[in-house]
Amino acid sequence: MLQERTPGAPVSRLGQTGVDGLESAAALWTNIVSNRERMPAGERGQRLRGMAQRLREAGRRDLGDAPLVRAVLAGLGPQRSVADLGAGPGRYTRVLARQDCRVWAVEPSEDMRRYLQEDLAGEDPATAARVQVVAGAWPDVAAQVPPVEVALASLVIHFCPDATGFIAAMERLATRRCVLSIRVGQMQPLIEVLWPQFHPDRPLPAQPVFAHLYNVLLEQGIVADVAVHAATGAGPAGMRYADQDEAVQQLGRALQLTSAEEHARLAAALEGLLCKDGDTWRSVQPPPREAVVSWRPGDRVSPRAASTA
Ligand SMILES: C[S@@+](CC[C@H](N)C(=O)[O-])C[C@H]1O[C@@H](n2cnc3c(N)ncnc32)[C@H](O)[C@@H]1O
Repeated sequence: MLQERTPGAPVSRLGQTGVDGLESAAALWTNIVSNRERMPAGERGQRLRGMAQRLREAGRRDLGDAPLVRAVLAGLGPQRSVADLGAGPGRYTRVLARQDCRVWAVEPSEDMRRYLQEDLAGEDPATAARVQVVAGAWPDVAAQVPPVEVALASLVIHFCPDATGFIAAMERLATRRCVLSIRVGQMQPLIEVLWPQFHPDRPLPAQPVFAHLYNVLLEQGIVADVAVHAATGAGPAGMRYADQDEAVQQLGRALQLTSAEEHARLAAALEGLLCKDGDTWRSVQPPPREAVVSWRPGDRVSPRAASTA
């Protein structure tokens, strides 16, 4: 709950003023996003292809009833106009275009835009014609997107160090509803199990997740609606790996392992934590959870009203 505070005074991650000298929620977010470990370029390309593949597969299932799609459809007005910020290969862009929405799909990655165009080519021509692809990052390309009824950003904001700039530009774009989705916990939940085995004396590095984002919103006076559900993009069983070697490589990087000995220990630790499912490997743990966060642009709750609610 928000506490009454002097404008500009620091707010802790609990939404309280100046506790233990903690920075503002927005500054904490910037810190976490900026300090995430950067992958080597080759691995980044491989990871992007893996992510695109998973999202394209997820998009082949019927997402018409996905919580995020329902939130967008509920926010629409007579124009049925949507901006899909960070559209990726367009799993939501296409679902919404099929439902008669006019969609501006903003995407900075050339590879993702290529996948999006390939998948759009498989759609009914009238559906594909309702989609306008905008090359670039949000909010850099804000001037190229006209006002829309709903601004949507699914699993994107955690890439952006300036969350408040991203959100403010979304609010300027949307006339009726802003809708965001973000992971509730670790992208690879196995990390939570494995980290203490390799680093018993070091806390797990923070990732930008729902709790951080919600505090950024609260700090702006935005009290958004939230629905939490099993991650739509992860499929029924969460993160997948092509084989056990890929799992060791990806989890080893997230665990900050350096030596061959540690990687061998990881491979042994994964026995019993991974299982084969069709052509791929997955964790035996339940899938990660995702939060759909939505609010009416411009709606603000004053700190006094929130603290007495
Ligand atoms: C995990 S994917 C999600 C794709 C899609 N929204 C979905 O849920 O299927 C994240 C996407 O955000 C894009 N992205 C990263 N930073 C961005 C930014 N500042 N503006 C727009 N898109 C961004 C990436 O290129 C990537 O395609």
